[in-house]
This record gives sequence, structure tokens and C-alpha cells, in this order.
Amino acid sequence: MPKLTFIEKDGNALKVDAPNGLSVMEVSHKHGVDIEGACGGCLSCATCHVVVHPDWFGKLEDITEDEEDMLDLAFDLEKTSRLGCQIIVNDDLDGIVVALPGAPKDW
Ligand code: FES
Repeated sequence: MPKLTFIEKDGNALKVDAPNGLSVMEVSHKHGVDIEGACGGCLSCATCHVVVHPDWFGKLEDITEDEEDMLDLAFDLEKTSRLGCQIIVNDDLDGIVVALPGAPKDW
């Protein structure tokens, strides 16, 4: 099963199992990671914002215009920001690292 690492707000790196087909937002909820996801993944809240490690950013599906519009409303936006509900885990993303907005990170 693919693994996913969350960098939490205190800088802690939490590596978890991430079943194929689940979104990063759904995986975070399974493991008690502090990502809200208020709209349940229907692209209308931006509370699932994550910052993707640059090594992984280019491996994601292209961002849609709807995601881009919603992302504009997120806080602590960075160059590799995406919405966690729009990143769907698959085997190619095994090992991906994402940080919560504002979390300290060394990249
Ligand atoms: Fe609302 Fe992702 S959960 S936009």
C-alpha cells in the first residue's frame, strides 16, 4: 500500500498508509491529521489546503481551473500548494510528502 507523509504544524513527520483511490484529505482524516475538509471534497472550501513537497509536485495530475480558483482563497499559499481533496492516491504517489499550511519544513 502507498505511504504518505504529513508534516504537521509542529514539524512532526507522520508517515501513514494511504490506500489507493482515497484523497489526501480522506487519508488525513483516517489518521487524525489536522486537515479540515469542510466541504467533503466538492471543491468549495479550500480548508483541505496542503503544500506538496517539490519533488512530488510535478507528479500530480494537472490542476483544474476550479481547483485553482478555490486555492486562491487559502491561507499560507505556496508555489506547490494544492487542495488535498483533489490529490487521489495511486501507486505512483507512494512516498509523497505534504505539509500542512504554515508547518515548518526543510525544503
Ligand atoms: Fe473542500 Fe477540498 S475539502 S475544497
